[in-house]
Amino acid sequence: MDVKVAIEKRRAYRSFLPVEITKELINDLAECAQITASCFNNQPWRYVFVYDKDVLVKMHEALSSGNEWARKASMIIVVLGRKEDDCIIRDRIYYQFDIGMATEAMILRATGLGFVAHPIAGYSPKKTREILGIPETVDVIALVIVGKHSDKIDPILSEKNVEAENERPERKAIDEFVYINRYIEKG
Ligand SMILES: Cc1cc2nc3c(=O)[nH]c(=O)nc-3n(C[C@H](O)[C@H](O)[C@H](O)COP(=O)(O)O)c2cc1C
Repeated sequence: MDVKVAIEKRRAYRSFLPVEITKELINDLAECAQITASCFNNQPWRYVFVYDKDVLVKMHEALSSGNEWARKASMIIVVLGRKEDDCIIRDRIYYQFDIGMATEAMILRATGLGFVAHPIAGYSPKKTREILGIPETVDVIALVIVGKHSDKIDPILSEKNVEAENERPERKAIDEFVYINRYIEKG
């Protein structure tokens, strides 16, 4: 799929149908992270791909209220990393930037393959650590909820979430965040 098409097609959908997760899919997504750029080629990312049914059910306990829709996930990708595994240049700390880039590469690839890959911050890192055996020294940065989009809206969704299923949430106008040739403070 053309990159621009994948960028446009990617959506944080919340209504899911089950979909088969294979080792080939996991490897394909991991390859996309593997070749992502990183500061000094440090490759600070780590991912736990959870698709075993019993482990997925345990992970439901880690979801925040409001994210119950994610119980229909066929896979949850747990995004991990450590500050010390990447560049720290004075006050510039790069691990979350690089891990975000690698994760977006996986999200776009998943989109191109017909999956939904929806990142969330609404989860308990503590419970995620307990369930998956992640030590305190490794940050739990995000979860990516993977499934197949269902046209039938999940009745669990809030009114706002239903709106977002039907239409992409509004974005800022381009001139609110783009500066040409010079930065000018825009109140
Ligand atoms: C870091 C991050 C955290 C997010 N956390 C949640 C979340 O906890 N629950 C949720 O339903 N969506 C979450 N989202 C999805 C956003 O709400 C969604 O991307 C945004 O509303 C724009 O919609 P779109 O991605 O379909 O264009 C998160 C997205 C990102 C990047």
